Amino acid sequence: MKISTVILAAGKGTRMRSELPKVLHKIANKSLLQHVYELSNQLPNNSINIVYGHGGELVKESLSELKANWVEQKQQLGTGHAVQQVADQIDAEDIVLILYGDVPLLKLTTVQKLITLVDTQSIALLTVQLENPTGYGRIVRDTDGKVLRIIEEKDASLTEKQITEGNTGILALQGAALKGWLNQLGNNNAQGEYYLTDVIEMAVTDGYTVNTLQVDTEDEVLGVNNRQQLSHLERVYQKEQAETLMAQGVTLMDPDRFDIRGEIIHLGIDITIDVNVVLEGNISLGNNVKIGSNTLIKDSVIADDVEILANCVIENAIVGQGSRVGPYARLRPETVLADHVHIGNFVEIKKSTIATGSKVNHLSYIGDSTVGSQVNIGAGTITCNYDGVNKFRTVIEDGAFIGSDTQLVAPVTIGKNATIGAGSTITKDSPENQLTLSRTKQVSVASWQRPVKREN
Ligand code: UD1
Ligand code: MG
Repeated sequence: MKISTVILAAGKGTRMRSELPKVLHKIANKSLLQHVYELSNQLPNNSINIVYGHGGELVKESLSELKANWVEQKQQLGTGHAVQQVADQIDAEDIVLILYGDVPLLKLTTVQKLITLVDTQSIALLTVQLENPTGYGRIVRDTDGKVLRIIEEKDASLTEKQITEGNTGILALQGAALKGWLNQLGNNNAQGEYYLTDVIEMAVTDGYTVNTLQVDTEDEVLGVNNRQQLSHLERVYQKEQAETLMAQGVTLMDPDRFDIRGEIIHLGIDITIDVNVVLEGNISLGNNVKIGSNTLIKDSVIADDVEILANCVIENAIVGQGSRVGPYARLRPETVLADHVHIGNFVEIKKSTIATGSKVNHLSYIGDSTVGSQVNIGAGTITCNYDGVNKFRTVIEDGAFIGSDTQLVAPVTIGKNATIGAGSTITKDSPENQLTLSRTKQVSVASWQRPVKREN
């Protein structure tokens, strides 16, 4: 059995009031269309067709890495017209699955179930019970509950408008039958559009059964038409992810104030996450990790027993076991902390490795550096790694002690167990085991008298 998915994504999305095509707006930092694509891409033996139109080139360019057959619908003449554009690419024996590019939270299990309801004599339709069905096409059934047709809101009589079972727009059916019915579509209706929904009545006329599947929640099939719906679905999505994490044993201080915009590729046990934490990209969290409030972690690996205190920004970094970071620390890309490293407040680390047990506890910038183990870097230490044109490396060997308020002018090496006196500007390599300092000698002037105010 081969599946041919058709993702409808040509609609204008006027109500977004945006320069950006609607399907490129994002939920959890991923475009609406990509959510739908990734869902359908999980179906085996599936070829994916995307019908694009409004702002189409931009849609195609921004998602060019997707393996799909892009089909242009030059004029948006309705959902039926949109599917007609792909008809040539559909094989008669395919099962065709129609999805909407602006419905991002549809579940794989729902789609899988829907597909099982299709056979040579049946089509499968996904419907939803609605408290307020306004705007939806309504499912018209006979007294035995058999589906007869779908009537669009704008074409519905007052009685039909009372129907609370809505059409989600998502359906599955056999290619051969679909192709036949697409040829018969007309646009003699209130909107002058070619409605895909008209195939339901044609199917019934041709003796097909319409099997329906109902989703549990409206949110699963809700399309995004405006920014309110976009933010609503963002919260629904985040809530689902928070629930999943809690089910896996993570303590979230408040699931409503927690966001994942990416994937957790490894999750340990007994993790605690405080409020307003955002995890982006690919994240790995070890056992007993604690993350303080207001922290952003992106594309990073956090090992077991790490504590990240409040207000940190960590990006493309590795934090080794038992390390402590923050509060107010920034780990920039290519930072690698070994085990039991302490990075304290107002410290920025970039493209540097720091070996086991070393400490940078206060107000420092460590960039392009290799720091050994058991090194202590005093408050206000700056690696001067940039001459305005080129970047240079600083090497600090094991056991070194850097006094406070020191500038290390790279390229420079601080030897093993060396001590640097506070307030130094180090421009030359400093030998092992010795004290190196570069500040001027302290003097006291015994005869010093404070100036006194002159009388006028
Ligand atoms: C459609 C259904 C309606 C259903 C509702 C669910 C029809 C005629 N009506 O109505 O029964 O309850 O969805 O939300 O199918 N699109 C194109 N090209 C077009 C028109 C639309 O690609 O020419 C795409 C849109 O981008 C969107 C989807 O098709 O992803 C649905 O289009 P929309 O205009 O929202 O249809 P509705 O009128 O809401
Ligand atoms: Mg719609």
